[in-house]
This record gives sequence, structure tokens and C-alpha cells, in this order.
Amino acid sequence: MKLVLYGMETTNITNAGMEEIVAQSPARVLSELAGEGVAGGLFGYRDVKDLELAANAADLYRDLLILLVVSQDHYSPGLYRQAIASGVEVVTTSELASRLSAMNTGVKKAERVEGAEIVRTLEDIASRERHTLSKLVAAAYSRDGGVGKSTFVATAGVYMARTAENFSSVYKVVVVDLDLEKEQGSIAEMLCVPARTTVSAWVDVDPDRLKWEDARSLLVKHKSGLWILPAPQNTSELLNFTPEKVERIIKALSRHFDAVLIDLGYGVADSLFAVLRYVPDIFFFITPDKAKVKNATSFFRDTAPSNDIEVRKIRLLLNEFNIPGALVKKHIEGFLGQKFTDQFPVDPSVLKALNAAGGDVAGPGSPYYEAVSRYIAKVMGPAWPVIEKESRSFISRLFSTFGRRRKEVS
Ligand SMILES: Nc1ncnc2c1ncn2[C@@H]1O[C@H](COP(=O)(O)OP(=O)(O)OP(=O)(O)O)[C@@H](O)[C@H]1O
Ligand SMILES: [Mg+2]
Repeated sequence: MKLVLYGMETTNITNAGMEEIVAQSPARVLSELAGEGVAGGLFGYRDVKDLELAANAADLYRDLLILLVVSQDHYSPGLYRQAIASGVEVVTTSELASRLSAMNTGVKKAERVEGAEIVRTLEDIASRERHTLSKLVAAAYSRDGGVGKSTFVATAGVYMARTAENFSSVYKVVVVDLDLEKEQGSIAEMLCVPARTTVSAWVDVDPDRLKWEDARSLLVKHKSGLWILPAPQNTSELLNFTPEKVERIIKALSRHFDAVLIDLGYGVADSLFAVLRYVPDIFFFITPDKAKVKNATSFFRDTAPSNDIEVRKIRLLLNEFNIPGALVKKHIEGFLGQKFTDQFPVDPSVLKALNAAGGDVAGPGSPYYEAVSRYIAKVMGPAWPVIEKESRSFISRLFSTFGRRRKEVS
């Protein structure tokens, strides 16, 4: 683990098992933070410029831990509020922690730290963060069309965004439509959002320079709170999507979002395989018929290995379309030499929701939505808040009664 230091007494925290990079200038801090294996930045506070720099870093590198070390001399409640509002964690080397907590400054994470304790506190905060904010960067793929990838991505995205709204004001979910070759069945179309900006606007973004304010203007937002990056509207734009550019788009999105769900379609283009190589998780879809199983088999045996796509990060999923002569799950697993990680039922409310033109997916109460939400909760692990059906509907009733306005997450 590496730590970038700026404006800090470095002698305080040496020999604590962390590699330190001392940056002497603001520009240097920002470029060092982009380096491999960096866990965060530790900023000393001398004047308001240091806070601005830390806030800037927190905005650019949302996936890193940005800490501001403030001493008693610089104490001011306004400063703490500002830091927290900008996503910077405050630590202090003095007696401030308890005073601050008592003063209702909005400081939740101020810790009393001295010297080498800074590192322990850092690791502590880092593990707490990991615990409460599980991250997901995953792509849905298949070797055949119409097996339910886009439906899954849209449903999972809406479910995650809704859940996130209930437990955290900072957890952000984005769905990216990188199914580049198709005009119908796009995510924007399914969720009825205007494709006023598309992935084409992202081909030249620099992941290390993109600020949230700029990122959000290049996205559209669904009423559930889900952020969406629609597919290009014009096939002539496809040439722009080289493997390198597609990777940079995902990297940029991963910096600003806690969950990035990518709809990939079923093509075999280079840029698409680059995504499969890059993401830590692949949701691979199949329906229980022979032709699909055959195509999937050759993907698992030949295509994936020969394109450096790790088969062990593929999660095999069964969309249980009832096709005449459908294969039995066990047999498919036998052919593929892979076990299904889950399955989703055929559910008429999926199509009903799609045709209702309201831009909604099948929601709570529908067997498909329930199966998808259970599966996502499983993928996310124990830190993911599973909201009981009862309490969710109670809360939403309460909110609709009092006309709660949706909070703009920024
Ligand atoms: N579990 C399900 N129950 C009922 N209908 C479903 C289910 N899953 C998918 N569908 C329907 O099947 C059709 C194809 O689904 P979808 O568009 O999600 O597939 P896809 O894999 O994204 O296809 P493509 O490869 O063409 O993009 C859609 O009309 C969708 O509503
Ligand atoms: Mg699709």
C-alpha cells in the first residue's frame, strides 16, 4: 500500500509498513495519486489552499482515501464542514476529536491520532469504507442475442440505485451501454431516458483529470437515481471505440461510481473483449437451449482463453425461458463444465413493464425483480443492505405521503 504525502511532517509516520511518496507540489500530488497501488493521500493543513487541494483530489479520485490532518492551531468548525462536504476525511493530531464530535460540526470521522497512529487510523478507515461500500464493476455478456442481458443490467441497476438511496447518500450506481452495434433494445430505450449524451462523449476523457461536475454533465439520470451512459446513436461512431479508449471510459467511471454495470451485447469485437479482460466480474447469460449452450461452450473452451479472458471471473447465469425441448440445468452444467451461479424466472411482468412506456423495470413483488435483487445482494456480500420488503414499502408509503423530494446526489 502506498500513501502520497503533501504538506506533512513525514517523520511522524515512517516505519509503519506503508510506502510513502512525498509530493512537493500540488500538480505532483495529483499525478502521484493516479499511480499504481496508491491507497490514498495524506494532506497537512497549513491554510485553505491545502483544503482546496485535498477537496480537488477527493473529487478526482473518489476511490481513494483522502485525509486532511488538522492541528489545534487551525481548528474551525467551518473548515471541517467544508472538508467533509467535499469528501475529505478529517483526522487530527490533537485533542480535537471529542470536542468536535460534541460540537455538532458534522464531523463523524475525526479521530485522535498521534504520529504512527495515523497509519493505523488510516487502515481502520480504509477497512470500514470497504465494508460499507462494496464496489462492483461488472459486464453482462453472452454469445447469443435476446437472452436477457439488457433486462438484467437495467433491473439490477435500478434495484441497486433504489437500495443505495435508502442507505447512503453517496453510493452511486451507473449503467453503461456498450452494446455498440445495435439500434434496438438499448438501455436508454428500456428505461425511457433521453440519449442526449452517449458513450461517444466519453471517448477522449482522461480518467485522471475528469471531475465529478464534468462527469455528471455527460450522463443522464433515471428517476430511480440510477445514472445512465447511453450507447452511441450512430453506427458511424463505432470506429472511435478502440480497446484502449473503452478501458479508459470504464476506468473514469470506476473512479466516480461505486457500482458500474456494463451491457455488452454479444459481439466479438476487440473493444468488447477488452472490456471482458478489464472488468473483475462477468455476468454470462444463457437460455436453456441447445444452440446457445453450444455457442457458450466454444466461448468458454476457446474464445475466452485465446483472448486472455479469465474464465474464473465469469458468473454463469440462466435465464429460464421455457423453450420447447429446453435443456435441463444440470445437463448444461455438464456440457460447459461450469456451474450456474443463479437463475432468473420467466416473468410476464418483465415485458409488461417494458411495454408500459413509463421507463420502469419489473419492480418489487415481481418474481424476476426479486430474483435479481437477491442475486445482487449475494454478489455484493454481507455489507450490502438487504432491505426487507415490509419496511421498504412502509418507508416508500411514508415518503410518498409527505411528498419527499428526491435528493440530488452529488
Ligand atoms: N426473465 C424474463 N422473463 C420474461 N421476459 C424476459 C426475461 N428476460 C428477458 N426477457 C425479454 O426477452 C427479450 C430479450 O431480452 P434482452 O433485450 O434483455 O436480451 P439481450 O440479451 O440484451 O438481447 P441482445 O443481445 O439482443 O441485446 C426482451 O423482450 C425481454 O423483455
Ligand atoms: Mg441487449
